[in-house]
Amino acid sequence: MNGLRAQDHTRFVDFFDHQVKPDPYATVRDRGMIKIVYDRATRRIRKNDNQSYFQSYSANEVDGGRVRVFPPIDDELIDDDVFLHVLKEDASFIDRYCDRVGKATLNISVHFIRYKAEMGGASYSSPVWLHVDDEPLVFIHLIRLTPNAIGADSVISGMTGHPTNVLRLVAPFDTLIVDKTRKHAVTPLGSSHGIAYRDVMLINVEAEVQQK
Ligand SMILES: [Fe+2]
Repeated sequence: MNGLRAQDHTRFVDFFDHQVKPDPYATVRDRGMIKIVYDRATRRIRKNDNQSYFQSYSANEVDGGRVRVFPPIDDELIDDDVFLHVLKEDASFIDRYCDRVGKATLNISVHFIRYKAEMGGASYSSPVWLHVDDEPLVFIHLIRLTPNAIGADSVISGMTGHPTNVLRLVAPFDTLIVDKTRKHAVTPLGSSHGIAYRDVMLINVEAEVQQK
């Protein structure tokens, strides 16, 4: 990503590392989350009073239909230079969405997700395969993919579920943006030797249906 140096990445990886804790709802992942409120006019953010996460069952048949509370990401993120830089890169898309739907503020959930797999094991996403999120806009930013990773490819399809694109986020801050016009998935992560990691930061613009 333009404007970020190797040392910025190293520092952010270290921050990420300290924030993720075992996902209370899945043993194959570690997670952290913080919810923020984005003000379109000023592009400022603040912490949301509500820190729980809801997906509808139609968007996630594994974990949808219930409120989930994840290990909290420290408030420090809200003032973090690297995070603010990444958010600024996303802001033009977010602003366009605000303008299209006529919203002055947006609820955004920021997720740190660590997939980790031992050799012969597997780590995977929830939901596991092609889906459309509740969120109208999701930014998937790669933080780190270790070289011993197997799989962890992003798949895009039309609504019929036939894949049209396969790609892989590899370099720090490689980004995939998904919306509701196509389905997406990430293939399970395995390891060629030792423990493989895929660390991603999701910046999710929340939908009305998620306000629980
Ligand atoms: Fe998704």
